[in-house]
Amino acid sequence: MTTNVLTLSAYEFYINGEWKESQSGQTIDIKSPYLYEVIGRVQAITKEEVDEAIYFAREAQKDWAETSLQDRAKYLYKWADELIDMQDELAEIIMKEVGKSYKDAKNEVARTADFIRYTIEEALHMHGESMRGDSFPGGSQSKIAIIQRVPLGVVLAIPPFNYPVNLAAAKVAPALMAGNAVIFKPATQGAISGTKMVEALHRAELPKGLVNLVTGRGSVIGDYLVEHKGIDMISFTGGTNTGLHLAKKATMVPLVLELGGKDPGIVREDADLYEAAKHIISGAFSYSGQRCTAIKRVLVHEKVADELVGILKEEVEKLSVGSPENGNTVVPLIDEQSADFVQILIADAIGKGAAVITGNKREHNLIYPTLLDYVTEEMRVAWEEPFGPVLPIIRVSSDEEAIKIANESEFGLQASIFTKDINKAFVMADKIETGSVQINGRTERGPDHFPFIGVKGSGMGAQGIRKSLESMTREKVTVLNIGE
Ligand code: G3H
Repeated sequence: MTTNVLTLSAYEFYINGEWKESQSGQTIDIKSPYLYEVIGRVQAITKEEVDEAIYFAREAQKDWAETSLQDRAKYLYKWADELIDMQDELAEIIMKEVGKSYKDAKNEVARTADFIRYTIEEALHMHGESMRGDSFPGGSQSKIAIIQRVPLGVVLAIPPFNYPVNLAAAKVAPALMAGNAVIFKPATQGAISGTKMVEALHRAELPKGLVNLVTGRGSVIGDYLVEHKGIDMISFTGGTNTGLHLAKKATMVPLVLELGGKDPGIVREDADLYEAAKHIISGAFSYSGQRCTAIKRVLVHEKVADELVGILKEEVEKLSVGSPENGNTVVPLIDEQSADFVQILIADAIGKGAAVITGNKREHNLIYPTLLDYVTEEMRVAWEEPFGPVLPIIRVSSDEEAIKIANESEFGLQASIFTKDINKAFVMADKIETGSVQINGRTERGPDHFPFIGVKGSGMGAQGIRKSLESMTREKVTVLNIGE
């Protein structure tokens, strides 16, 4: 599939319902991670254009907050339908821009439409609450608090490169249903896909000014957006360092941050090793491990380690490697720099005594799936997030040791426990410091209505459809004092 549906013309940014070229006269080249050529350009907008976008968002939000939930729903249902109509086109753009296989890219679009529809339905069924005054000592029955959820204003949505449509819509849809306007700043690598997603909103005739697409250099508009007084909430998904920087810059606005991870797959000695291996392989290597929720280390009981490593080796060697156009699982990483980093981690581990079971081969930014055994706590790969197809195996002698190593990580996104002893799994799950623990399954965000939470260096706040709606609203209390 090499037909070039992407023209090399510059994509415009979107402000107050109009597509525009930036006054800066500058654009940013977007290079495909596997075609190694520029596939399009996006506008490098100015701070003044950011100001305008936020101005229009604030204006539009006032009327939007007054529209009924049913009216908001109509636009969002239309948006989901438009995305499905554009599914093939979008999938090809996602594939070319971020190097995800065509099938996975198509699934991303379908998942996004489902996400939007569920968000609508969830928002339609969310209710406020009321409280009687006399439940507190000395309170009176004649006092009633009515608690509603109201919008925050303008939400700044910043998704990562790896789900340029899905994780963008996962912020935009709840923001809109909750009555907010949105400033959408896509990851630069992912900005063409994000632009196309906004095109679907435009076709759905969303009222102007409600979603504004701003593209540009982080060094020019990144901090400016985050510190802007016109932003009322920030929802960011991306790297931990960027998230930390953002948290320091943002002042007095609610933040939801979904950051990196170092999810362990803990394999107990009683586990079904073939089942565990199946989940570990898919968890660690799909999309070359470029998922925050990828399994990024295995903590296996030493009694079953040799057998597990044998099974994993066989499965890793079956993984298809190459261009995303041929549906391969392991594809070139997003850029050369990312591949360099993975290689540094592998080299560090080998230098300190890790055994290469398979892999450790590179062609440009394509890293072959790599399995490292006998990884120890001295090695960087035991702690750092590669965001690439390398899986370290750490042998442990007890559940306690597995939990200790799991918790010593700076991250706390998810963990998997593989065991036949469900009671033991629950006891262990309680002790693991992550937002979620998967029992006998791979680490993953979905289904998308589940709460999705990162603790420690993995983030703050919660996503998942209901949680996102809640995080993009605040409670407003009106107290009715009934006369005698
Ligand atoms: O990369 C971060 C995503 O939230 C992971 O989502 O588990 O569905 O791949 P996923």
